[in-house]
Amino acid sequence: MTVNTFAFDVYGTLVDTSGVVELLTDMVGEKAQQFSDNWRNKQLEYSFRRGLMKDYVKFSECTRQALDFTCQSVGQDLTTQQKNDLLSKYNSLPAFQDALEALSRLQSQGHHCFAFSNGDPESVDQVLRAAGIRNFFKAIISVDDVKTFKPNPEVYRYFLKQTGADANNTWLISSNPFDVLGGLNVGMKTAWVKRSDKMVFDPWDATPTITISTLTDFSHHLEELSR
Ligand code: 2OP
Repeated sequence: MTVNTFAFDVYGTLVDTSGVVELLTDMVGEKAQQFSDNWRNKQLEYSFRRGLMKDYVKFSECTRQALDFTCQSVGQDLTTQQKNDLLSKYNSLPAFQDALEALSRLQSQGHHCFAFSNGDPESVDQVLRAAGIRNFFKAIISVDDVKTFKPNPEVYRYFLKQTGADANNTWLISSNPFDVLGGLNVGMKTAWVKRSDKMVFDPWDATPTITISTLTDFSHHLEELSR
């Protein structure tokens, strides 16, 4: 079987950013899911804008500032303690149910799995450990070394350089369409994890190499290919 290199996106792909909703429900009641979605979208928007402005800060800072923005935009006062609790929860988000099985199959097949994230190495290490999946990864490759964010092509090229992998033997696995487009842009193969029927892929000129609904579908797909 061909040994492939896998670049696993972290937030939203391996760990569930909606893992804050339970805690948020205690703080903002039924607005919790909407609050969580707004927070996540603003966090990503800040990373894009920071990248464009060449004004890098750590992803955790984008997360913190996006939380402050979200509180103000929905008129929800949270105490400093509540905000700190939410930010700590962000470092212990739960793994998606399918992550453990998929990663262990890929590891047993001898593939090289890397975590590849906007998050800084310490935060990613912490969140993967808390989710119980850190040991599946040979290394964490973070945009923090390049001081910009996905989907800047520089960060995908940095991934290839650090792992010594060829783009055409490398799969980027992500539930984030902007990330999949970023991988395709540098010639990587891509698996878009479409976790719900409601998710829409950006109607640009590129499409994911494969679209899967769970991470375990991905390991099955590779097994099929190698038969
Ligand atoms: C990650 O890089 C984009 O949040 C996503 O982990």
